[in-house]
Amino acid sequence: MITDILAEKVTAAFKAAGYDITANVTLSDRPDLCQFQCNNAFAAAKAYRKAPFIVAEETAKVLSADPMFKSVEGVKPGFVNITLTDEAIAAFADEIASDENAGVPVEKSEVIVMDYGGPNVAKPLHIGHLRSAIIGQSLKLIARRMGKTVHSDIHLGDWGLQIGLVIAELSERMPQYSCFGDYHEGDALPELTADMLNEVYPTASGRSKTDEAFAAKAHAATVALQERRPGYIALWNEIMRVSCGDLRANYDALGVDFDYWYGESDADAYIPELMDILDRKGLSYESDGAIVVDVAEESDKAPIPPVIVRKSDGSSIYATTDLATLIQRQRDFAPDKVWYVVDNRQEQHFTQVFRCARKAGIVPDGTGLEFLGFGTMNGTDGKPYKTREGGVMRLSDLISQVVTAARERMDEQGRTAEAERDENARRIGMAAIKFGDLINHRSKDYIFDIDKFLSAEGKTGVYILYTVSRINSILRRASESGAPTEGKMTVSSDSERDLMLALITSGQSWKMALSERAPSYICEDVYQLAAAFSRFYHDVRILDEEDEAKRTSRLALCSLTRNVITAHLDALGIKTVETM
Ligand code: ARG
Repeated sequence: MITDILAEKVTAAFKAAGYDITANVTLSDRPDLCQFQCNNAFAAAKAYRKAPFIVAEETAKVLSADPMFKSVEGVKPGFVNITLTDEAIAAFADEIASDENAGVPVEKSEVIVMDYGGPNVAKPLHIGHLRSAIIGQSLKLIARRMGKTVHSDIHLGDWGLQIGLVIAELSERMPQYSCFGDYHEGDALPELTADMLNEVYPTASGRSKTDEAFAAKAHAATVALQERRPGYIALWNEIMRVSCGDLRANYDALGVDFDYWYGESDADAYIPELMDILDRKGLSYESDGAIVVDVAEESDKAPIPPVIVRKSDGSSIYATTDLATLIQRQRDFAPDKVWYVVDNRQEQHFTQVFRCARKAGIVPDGTGLEFLGFGTMNGTDGKPYKTREGGVMRLSDLISQVVTAARERMDEQGRTAEAERDENARRIGMAAIKFGDLINHRSKDYIFDIDKFLSAEGKTGVYILYTVSRINSILRRASESGAPTEGKMTVSSDSERDLMLALITSGQSWKMALSERAPSYICEDVYQLAAAFSRFYHDVRILDEEDEAKRTSRLALCSLTRNVITAHLDALGIKTVETM
């Protein structure tokens, strides 16, 4: 990456000037003064007891001899300001044009298990699950493109009270089925549908809040399921089949996929081992009939309660399955890191789980357990996004709302061929949703605003797709007229230089996105690339440029811009459209 090359050069210059210090070079805060800057003269000055400005000036002097630089200056109080020659900028752009990874930096290889999605079986997917899916998928694609090995696991909520609630409710509605009584293999099971489950769960959950006897029944059903009562397991398999089919269709529509469809139930086999470790290490003890582990630490600002690993009724809960799942993941993947993309409101749960896992030695010390929390998606009223009636919004309804709005705009504009409108509306709608989400740092709440997300201007997915389709159309016309779209690039205007600079420094956004586990850096950068392209497009002639070398250079710049933007969009899970 360009900033790494510059950092090496400046480090060598520090050394030549007599300072043994490692330089870091970043894009300039003052693009009006220079393109890059280095601030390490301050540290050098401290170590060598000199004025920072003197160190900066001496270093700049050494660097000035390098033909790569148009100017290098030491400025007060102690910055090194760097500007490249246009030839150097174009040469870097040529280099990225021939790089298979489109300038995306590759980092050291590592195995990462990613836990995202996290839908609950038998409950409808709601928009709370949207963020986990979109952010998780993007982080996976970013990490993979940068050389990491990622195993993604959906971690279904399939073993808890929600299943007990559904079983209890069904047992009252359809008592004639033997799965609720004396079940024999092969006996008929209730015929379930996704729509039916979507109604049964909320009803049962509502009932359990007012009807104590029913709540007790649901708890008992949960315990019996976890003890593998045959009739319940048979029914559970049926619930899983129907519910997972529905989930798959939803995730397919989102363009989100998982390597493993494991669930909390798959951790069940590891629970005895977990309980045994906790017991042997003297970590678990009985409290009010439950089994718990203390995880509080002296430095805690707010009290962290003990983690409950077995409830008094004998059932295992959320923390139990998360701990047991870590045993499973260690065995299957021996990961360097485990990333959990989950709602911010679950932070305490993960603090408890991670501490308990460390105390118990379930994961090696070097394994990073990371809670990557995300904020809430709010409506334009600033409150959690709801349906017009004030209910929980289903994910599928939200998607169709946005896709319909995208389609209406397309119909109004009438630019897209009829045959392409459905697919394009789907892609534009998804781009609007994903970009609108990912442009915000994942930890922040954001406002879901369909009109804003579908706007063709500003930091929107639609603007980026629009830019790509504009480039596509230029390149298509070029190839129709036989004009070459590859060749050496040169700088012949400010807007070309700015676009090339944006392209050759865009690797920085990948580094930030990966190190902060935040796709927002890629979004911001792709917006800056698109905006730099728009200025270039309005500023210079491209297809009708008469000078052949300039025309070829500009077309090559168009191709490169498209490739770099597409790499960004790929990592955001956004598909482009040919025409808009
Ligand atoms: N099923 C959970 C929910 O809907 C999310 C699961 C997150 N992952 C985990 N390993 N706990 O809230």
